Amino acid sequence: MKVLVCGGAGYIGSHTCVALIEQGHEVVIYDNLCHGSLSAVDHIRQLSGADVRFVQGDVRDKAALESVLSSGFDAVVHFAALKIMSESCRLPLLYFDNNVAGTIALLQAMQATGVHRLVFSSTAAVYGDPDVVPIKEDAPLRACNPYSHTKLVMERLIQELCEARPSFSAAILRYFNPAGAHPSGLMGEDTGGVPSNLMPYVSQVAAGMQDRLHVFGGDYPTRDGTGVRDYIHVMDLADAHTKALDVLRVGGCHVLNIGTGRGYSVLEVVSAFERISGRRVPYEIVDRRPGDVAEVWADPSHAQETLGWHAQHDLLRMCADAWRWQSMHPHGYQSAQVIELRQAMPSGSCR
Ligand SMILES: NC(=O)c1ccc[n+]([C@@H]2O[C@H](COP(=O)([O-])OP(=O)(O)OC[C@H]3O[C@@H](n4cnc5c(N)ncnc54)[C@H](O)[C@@H]3O)[C@@H](O)[C@H]2O)c1
Repeated sequence: MKVLVCGGAGYIGSHTCVALIEQGHEVVIYDNLCHGSLSAVDHIRQLSGADVRFVQGDVRDKAALESVLSSGFDAVVHFAALKIMSESCRLPLLYFDNNVAGTIALLQAMQATGVHRLVFSSTAAVYGDPDVVPIKEDAPLRACNPYSHTKLVMERLIQELCEARPSFSAAILRYFNPAGAHPSGLMGEDTGGVPSNLMPYVSQVAAGMQDRLHVFGGDYPTRDGTGVRDYIHVMDLADAHTKALDVLRVGGCHVLNIGTGRGYSVLEVVSAFERISGRRVPYEIVDRRPGDVAEVWADPSHAQETLGWHAQHDLLRMCADAWRWQSMHPHGYQSAQVIELRQAMPSGSCR
């Protein structure tokens, strides 16, 4: 298929682009680079060996999307969104505009150009504080911050469109906690400063860039008192997208949990990371954060049945790949640019 990847210069999008090309798809990346990086696009080209086209543009720009899509596409994979929950509480209008208005413009452009297949990035945060774990797709939806609300609205939009237009098919993938990096160490999560997710934070503490990890809450009713989450390797996520595209060939609207089905506590992640990196990860238990919940992990059996997909990588592998990325890119893609610049300079000139 010829696939437009919106947000393809970001963390999950870049890994998915490589996986799609490896499966024989042609990829065009559309990204406004508000968080993504041109270095990620270069690494996609390097890893896949494909001359991938990149278009800098915003998903809220319907005319620009129509112009790109009118050259003929089979599907869109839509990652382009703002994703930081704490930021969304401060800037709800920005989140609704970027995420929801962007998705409406994208769906309109797809409709106008006759592109009828969509894979959409949703999140396990739509379940909020679940009554039971593991979580099935029909569990109550209790989004509890503006970011998660935008995802619920977008899910609903896509489902309504599929109902109204049976030619339109979609896979809504609810990711649990993405972690890890490409095994080459060339691509990973560029947090652009202090990370908001656990694994990059632990990596930076192990690398000595942060003095300690703040563990939010040590009195949850879990096996060691810290929060339990379902960490999923970004390479497994990428694989789920390629399989979702295959399923869309036969139509329908599918909502699927993309997780491993196993939860790890914060302290278990810390201990696995110490084992892999050979470094200490000092931590301090501090107060719980409002909105955080004790335990969240997926029942991924629906994805297994529908896509023939299951996660292949375990926690140690996520830590090993995250540590390789951290060691090769201590400051994200900026480090790659500095290293490339140094290599281009005559020796001794980069002091
Ligand atoms: N990483 C996670 O923990 C996580 C968990 C669940 C769901 N998700 C969802 O997965 C998707 C990808 O997340 P990620 O971790 O790769 O984030 P990311 O920030 O690395 O990637 C998002 C990409 O979208 C681009 N983008 C954002 N707004 C845009 C716009 N208006 N127009 C064009 N491009 C735009 C950014 O520049 C970036 O390259 C997001 O939709 C996110 O909500 C992420």
